[in-house]
Amino acid sequence: NGAAAKGSKTRDIVKTMEDSDKNMVIFYGSQTGTAEDYASRLAKEGSARFGLKTMVANLEEFDYENLDTLPEDKVAVFVMATYGEGEPTDNAVDFYEFIMSDDINFTEGDRLGNLKFIGFGLGNNTYEHFNAVIRRLTTTLSKLGAKQIGTIGEGDDGTGTMEEDFLAWKEPMWKALQEEMDLEEREAVYEPVFSIAERTDLSAEDDTVYLGEPNKNHLEGASKGPYGVNNPFIAPIKSSREIFTAKDRNCLHMEIDVAGANLSYTTGDHIAVWPTNAGKEVDRFLGVLGLGGKKDGVVDVSGIDPTAKVPFPTPTTYEAIARYHLEICAPVSRQFLASLAAFAPTPAAKEELTKLGGDKDYFQETVSSRYLNIAQVLELNAPGEAWSDVPFSLMIEGLNRIQPRYYSISSSSLVQSKLVSITCVVESIRIPEASHVLKGVTSNYLLALKQKHNGDPEPDPHGLSYAITGPRNKYDGVHVPVHIRASNFRLPSDPSKPVIMIGPGTGVAPFRAFVQERAVLAENGDKIGKTLLFFGCRRASEDFLYREEWKEYAAKLGDSFSLITAFSRDGPEKVYVQHRLKEHAKEVNELLAQGGYFYVCGDAAHMAREVNTSLGNIIAQERGLTETQGEEIVKRLRSSNLYQEDVWS
Ligand code: 2AM
Repeated sequence: NGAAAKGSKTRDIVKTMEDSDKNMVIFYGSQTGTAEDYASRLAKEGSARFGLKTMVANLEEFDYENLDTLPEDKVAVFVMATYGEGEPTDNAVDFYEFIMSDDINFTEGDRLGNLKFIGFGLGNNTYEHFNAVIRRLTTTLSKLGAKQIGTIGEGDDGTGTMEEDFLAWKEPMWKALQEEMDLEEREAVYEPVFSIAERTDLSAEDDTVYLGEPNKNHLEGASKGPYGVNNPFIAPIKSSREIFTAKDRNCLHMEIDVAGANLSYTTGDHIAVWPTNAGKEVDRFLGVLGLGGKKDGVVDVSGIDPTAKVPFPTPTTYEAIARYHLEICAPVSRQFLASLAAFAPTPAAKEELTKLGGDKDYFQETVSSRYLNIAQVLELNAPGEAWSDVPFSLMIEGLNRIQPRYYSISSSSLVQSKLVSITCVVESIRIPEASHVLKGVTSNYLLALKQKHNGDPEPDPHGLSYAITGPRNKYDGVHVPVHIRASNFRLPSDPSKPVIMIGPGTGVAPFRAFVQERAVLAENGDKIGKTLLFFGCRRASEDFLYREEWKEYAAKLGDSFSLITAFSRDGPEKVYVQHRLKEHAKEVNELLAQGGYFYVCGDAAHMAREVNTSLGNIIAQERGLTETQGEEIVKRLRSSNLYQEDVWS
């Protein structure tokens, strides 16, 4: 926890490394934890394979004025995510501003001649500023005289190749570092990062034992704000209902009550939901490790090396770790499987995991394409056997920490400032190759909450149980841990400006909020500009979200509101929002010419790209320009914030 660290630890990175005898520091700039996880993996690998003395460091926990005095026998790695419009993550902002400043001053001058550095960036190629942070940082460090080791890696979340990009980058990087630092590679010996001490003196009933609570205040039943990424508000659910009429798919509309917290939001913001893994998956995971019988066993987890941070509070139970803290349902990584081979219960399982770890195509075919999680892979490869030799520390090291999931808020803060609504499709995808159903962790968790909250006759049809029941546990299946994240997705401050909104599927969420807000402003007598909403779904009769509600808003907004629908599966040919946009080319162009705002929400990889292209074509066509000129105008709209996106992949 950053605040505690600031109080008790030095912010001097050079001294920290000297005092703890480290020669490699891996800094991370991480928003959702992915960059942090890669940083930990590099630290582990560096020490296991090359005997490096590694440490992982959160960029915001140190100062950088004396970076120029880092001795030459040490190396600094930067694992940096790029966020939003090419920005650094929150924890990297101070460092980034410092290092980029024009009149930089270090302890001994204005150069970094001693510094050796390595870089890996995490970005998303569907956004314009792909990996801007690591690129700019590299340029700056080089300009300051620092020496780059190996090539700079660029992971791409957009194509979903982040993991393979990382694996492909790091081998040549290690080679280059070996040469630079004269390192011998040794037979990698596994050294646990964490020690797991069983506390037979405690039981899960004791009130000092964490059962999912993220910090001490929560444990003591007195959680306090500020609520944010490290501290959720445990919110009651006010109401929830399903809004698809199709029976085989679910979409939830949920109203979350944040009145009990000092939480506020603005229309267009996101709400983070802290998910819980399904009971069935927790049982599978603990079972395959041979820990099924010890589910409630209390353990203390601590770093063997004092710079290693335990990613959850302890003492806690195996069950609580699996349920609330580790991403046990995520697709498993190739490198992680390879590291488990040494602990396989049978020679065949060992051979198979080694093969999976080493052969990218084979791994893709047998594991990735079936979306298997860690426990499923282990189960498949040693049927009926428990993997009891796997050190539990390895699971904590190798699996990612569970991350909050962000949803575009679908209510207006002007209309309901303390009630946040979520619009969420429940993901259940049948994987034919594996004859199992892949269930979205968070959406199914929300569905279970809805069922429990409403006392549905057949709650939890999937046999999933979500809460550890205990006298003081607030994760009781009726409350949901949340926090709010501000966004830049905003209605024009002048409501008389026209708005054009493109939101197929649950991409319509923030636009429900936008339209709700403009309807209320209209009722209050404000002059409202044209409000054009393009919505797309499969069939008018199945997944037409808020079908009845739009009529109410239309009654309040009158002629200024138009809803234009694209039903992709009702007719012989697919009709998408961008097709409808083209049909309305003339009006769209005119509204933009009047200073209108253009918004897109939903799928980043296909829809948002195609809408972007279509708009360029429309502008070109309507204004008699070339396609390139049309594209240029769209770019300008983007940079002046008249074209805003809230998209995900
Ligand atoms: P489809 O699934 O029938 O192809 C919400 O998901 C709606 O967006 C659905 O009607 C879906 O159609 C549609 N959709 C799928 N791909 C799209 C794309 N590339 N652009 C716009 N809409 C798309």
